[in-house]
This record gives sequence, structure tokens and C-alpha cells, in this order.
Amino acid sequence: MTNQPHGGKLVNRELSKQEKEKAVENAKSLKQITANPWVISDLELIGIGGFSPLEGFMGQKDYERVVKELRLSDGNIWSIPITLPVTEDQAEEIETGEEVALAGEDGVIYGTIQVEEKYTYDKELEAQYVYGTIEEAHPGVKKIYDKGNVYIGGPITLLNRPDHSRFEDYYMDPAETRQMFDDLGWKTIVGFQTRNPVHRAHEHIQKTALEAVDGLLLNPLVGETKSDDIPADVRMESYEVILKNYYVDDRVRLVIYPAAMRYAGPREAILHAIVRKNYGCTHFIVGRDHAGVGDYYGTYDAQDLIAEYEEELGINIFKFEHAFYCTVCENMASAKTCPHDKENHVHLSGTKVRELLRNGERPPKEFSRPEVADVLIKGMKQPTS
Ligand code: ADX
Repeated sequence: MTNQPHGGKLVNRELSKQEKEKAVENAKSLKQITANPWVISDLELIGIGGFSPLEGFMGQKDYERVVKELRLSDGNIWSIPITLPVTEDQAEEIETGEEVALAGEDGVIYGTIQVEEKYTYDKELEAQYVYGTIEEAHPGVKKIYDKGNVYIGGPITLLNRPDHSRFEDYYMDPAETRQMFDDLGWKTIVGFQTRNPVHRAHEHIQKTALEAVDGLLLNPLVGETKSDDIPADVRMESYEVILKNYYVDDRVRLVIYPAAMRYAGPREAILHAIVRKNYGCTHFIVGRDHAGVGDYYGTYDAQDLIAEYEEELGINIFKFEHAFYCTVCENMASAKTCPHDKENHVHLSGTKVRELLRNGERPPKEFSRPEVADVLIKGMKQPTS
């Protein structure tokens, strides 16, 4: 049996086919908010139950408690505000109690919100609590400063899922992954979050975890990431080649996680674990500097924070030490398992790896599988999408 959804019930904010046709027609006559891809991906995740128990964008009570206490107003653990920002001018035009259509920048109406609340918020306070910094250089904090000054709260209806056709074979919603795990007979499933091409340390911690459970859900985030991260389509190709060459078919499933990356380190690790619980995972991996960026978080801050909530979260956390290849051990290791000096450890910075790839050179095979390196070299040459 797969894990219980967070809050006990898998949320579904979609309509039956008949109801949907009517609602889509009706939505065209509503006032419209145009939302960026980040907000639309949140709308989708609420709608399909990835963000259970959320049924909409947060109202003020939930928002404030999440920011300050990592809990929804009903007491459930929740670590990142999921909000719908609008400008003050937009907010003035919207009445509490009315239904408003949510359109993407492409003009498609993706859903509607039943407006229950409009409220202002303190951007620096949100930044400090959620990201641990108010510096604009932090990509998540910058997003807060760039958005409208008013949040709209209320339940949503998802009318159209965003187009994931480029990853068609790898798109599943939480109800589908749960069914798939049952069909596969997996009782224990470890989820793996990533926003990077898969390297040897990732492979090592995934496979070490897999030794202890029935299956692995490789669940790369494909929503918005910062511009210097490797684009999702190149990463997906890297996952395909590594799965084909180095993994056991029956033990792994590749499914996209269509969310935006927040880079909120410890707080985001908790969100990532909750979402994977909703997809049915019983275990989740938190390694070194999970969801971190720059030097904003300590190597094990995410593990320390999630450990405080682990029991109540209802998903087991596999915490991994910083992994590397040791040339004396001749295998992947960590400070827990390798007694040798640092100079024997293969370490490459992201900048160095990018430089190698750009020059058409493979990083050492101790760092990256050659098949993966080749995909990345090819990907670096192409204009990014
Ligand atoms: S993340 O932003 O999605 O966390 P990344 O894709 O690099 O970034 O990491 C995916 C997962 O692998 C995270 O849990 C991270 O902590 C873990 N991880 C990445 N590199 C290592 C490493 N060298 N040793 C241990 N864990 C790692």
C-alpha cells in the first residue's frame, strides 16, 4: 500500500468532463488574472493533489502560520507559502466572493479561483523566514520582490493542465503514480528530487536507498529554474540514458515533477518530501545542501530541519552525507565510509563541469557517466528552450 496523502486525503480540484466543458465556457466571461508559469505550475499541483491538503491559494491565516511556524492553520506541517500575487490595481478590481479566471502568459485559461480574501504581506519578512535571507541575489527572494503586493486567497478549480507534451511519456499525476506503485507491487518507494543532470553521487545515493526499499521514483523538477541551471529537456535526456545503461528496469520509474524551483534549501526539502508523499512515496532522499543555492545554507541544514518534523511528516527521510568518488577506495563513498585524505576524492565544481562540457570534454568517469556527459555536451551546443 502506498503512503497516505498529506492531511489524509488526495485533493482533486478538477471537474468531470461534462462539468468542465461548461466551466471552461463560463470562465471566458469572468474577470481574468494573467499569471506567470510559476503560479500556473502551483495551480496545477494544487489541482492534481500534489500539494494536498491545499485546495487553493493560501488565505492570510494559512500564509502567516506557514511563514512563521511551518504549519497550516489546521496544524498540518507546511513549509512554503503557496500564494497568488496580484498588483494593487488588479486587487482593487477584484471583489471578495467573486470567481476569477486564471490565465497563463499564453492566454490559455488554466483555472479559476473563488476569491475569499485579499491581503497585503511583508516581503522582507517572508524572505527572511522562508529563505533565511533578504538578499535580492537569492533567486527565490528576488521572485518575492518582483511580484505584486497583494495576495488573493481561495479554492481553485483546475480547468486545463499545462502542456507537458515534450515529456509526455513521463507525466503522471499523484493518483496515477499511486496506482502504478500498487500495480508494480511496490510497498516501499523512495522519491528522489533533482534539478540537475544525474551524476555519480546522485546515482550512488539513489541506489544505496534502493537497496532498502522496493522501488525508486526518479522525480526531476521540470518547472521554472534559474537561468544557469541545465534546461529540463537536456536533463531528461540524461536521465533516460543513465536509466537505460545503469538501472534495473523493474525498480525505477521516471516521472516529472512539474513545479518551480524555489531554492529555499531546508524549507523546500520539507515541501519536496510532502509532495512525494502525495505521489505515494514512503521514503524521500535528502542529501547534501538539498535545494540550496550559493552559500545560503549549510551542507546539512536541510537534513537538520526536516529531522525535527520527520515523525509527524509521515514519510521516512534517507539522509545522505556528501558523497564522492575515492580513488583509493575505488568506489563512491562519504566521510562516514572513507578514511582517506581529501586529495584522493574526486571533486568538481559546477562551474568546472560546465567549462569542460562547453569545450566538448567529458568530466572524469568517476564524476559523470560517459553516456550522460555526451548528452550534456550535445545539450550545451544547442540553443536552450
Ligand atoms: S536539488 O536542488 O534538487 O536538491 P540536486 O539535483 O543537485 O539539487 O540534488 C538532488 C538531491 O541529491 C538532493 O537531495 C541533494 O541533497 C542530493 N545530492 C546532490 N549531490 C550530492 C552529493 N555529492 N552527495 C550527497 N547528496 C547529494
